[in-house]
Amino acid sequence: MVVGAQWGDEGKGKIVDVLAEGADLVVRYQGGANAGHTVVKGDEEFILHQIPSGILHPGTRCVIGNGVVLDPETLLSEMDDLERRGVTVAGRLIVSLRAHLVLPYHKLLDQAAEREQRIGTTGRGIGPAYEDKYGRRGIRVADLRDLSRTLERIGERVERANRLLSLMGSSLRASVEEHCDLLRRLAPRLMPMAADTSRITYDALREGKKVLLEGAQGALLDVDHGTYPFVTSSNTTAGGAAVGAGIGPTAIDAVLGVVKAYTTRVGNGPLPTEADPQEAARLRELGEEYGATTGRPRRCGWFDAVVVRYAARVNGLTDLAVTKLDVLDTIERIPVCVAYRIGDEIVEDMPADSALLDSAEPVYEELDGWCRPTGDARRLADLPPQARAYLDRIQDLVQVPIRYVSVGSRRSQIIG
Ligand code: GDP
Ligand code: IMO
Ligand code: MG
Repeated sequence: MVVGAQWGDEGKGKIVDVLAEGADLVVRYQGGANAGHTVVKGDEEFILHQIPSGILHPGTRCVIGNGVVLDPETLLSEMDDLERRGVTVAGRLIVSLRAHLVLPYHKLLDQAAEREQRIGTTGRGIGPAYEDKYGRRGIRVADLRDLSRTLERIGERVERANRLLSLMGSSLRASVEEHCDLLRRLAPRLMPMAADTSRITYDALREGKKVLLEGAQGALLDVDHGTYPFVTSSNTTAGGAAVGAGIGPTAIDAVLGVVKAYTTRVGNGPLPTEADPQEAARLRELGEEYGATTGRPRRCGWFDAVVVRYAARVNGLTDLAVTKLDVLDTIERIPVCVAYRIGDEIVEDMPADSALLDSAEPVYEELDGWCRPTGDARRLADLPPQARAYLDRIQDLVQVPIRYVSVGSRRSQIIG
């Protein structure tokens, strides 16, 4: 399993693409089109929102599991885009019959809720779609089998959404007609790809095939373990994978946490190690830190060992992949946060209360930079001693072995 161990955008797409070589299945198990996973193949960049990052390996099948909230329009346009760019998707992508659909009214509700809550969501309808799922009024892929019955139900759902929009003081309104047209258009394309993906994954595991589970977002965006309420609406941590893929937890034998060599976050909420504006701007330029889904500039700061140690605990991480080490190549002294000062106390554990976290002052240790390019390193021994010392310190602080180090966005730019 590959999970994000910070606030998302750690480089999961790149790591999954590298590991997918030789994998039979790559399974997305939570989140939806809020994700933006970048894979660089040769000179081409692909940003995947809904389709698993294994899709660029022709021999790998990709699964969208039951725990994902599926935006059918995004899915189909992503498929068309990939096919246009020479990637065969047809016959290789399987969608769970149990996955819930994200419909246009969910996006309107997301936008309306943002006016008050200001979480800084991606606007992709994720929260409202999961609310419908847990409120037991969601529409699932399986419901498209009996389309006429679903078209009857959709009217009620849209009207309910419109009542909510009006209560929220929003002038946005969803149209029943538009929803019916959409479902009529999409159902015939979606249904041939739909199956019991839990069964497919189970069978692949029983046959001893390599199955990779691809997480979206990151531990600090988990609805239970993240910086609530500034989180997404799913369990992004490892526990969510068994549920969202429809397999037992005993089937999972390794959990790889992906972390950037520094920290970023998109959207609102606490970010204790956020750098001062000038340093943040430098990191943003060096790391090209702009959201893959919304294009928003990412907030940037230093590596936070409190965050990653916590992510290691709540995920049961067995290994780490450290990405974007090359982004730090020109930084002379690199701060690393080892604890927080909250009031008079030194705290080494992530506080549960977001307000407390707002007042947390990072306790920094400063490490020497290496001031040399690392993009061509392919073995740890190729890295400058200061870069190795930096990685050693991270490993020490987090107490999880570093298995991979990524030194550029390309497939080949990996140590491990
Ligand atoms: P994800 O959501 O976790 O898959 O990450 P994103 O794709 O949203 O953001 C990661 C960005 O960093 C993408 O633009 C990647 O191409 C890029 N990237 C991944 N690994 C590296 C690396 O080691 N070095 C550099 N410079 N860029 C990387
Ligand atoms: P990947 O998979 C970074 C953030 C949003 C917002 C919060 C809630 O590419 O790492 P939502 O739309 O989910 O209701 O937004 O979560 N967020 C992400 N941040 N990477 C992501 O995905 C994210 N998906 C959601 O910015 O703060
Ligand atoms: Mg991303």
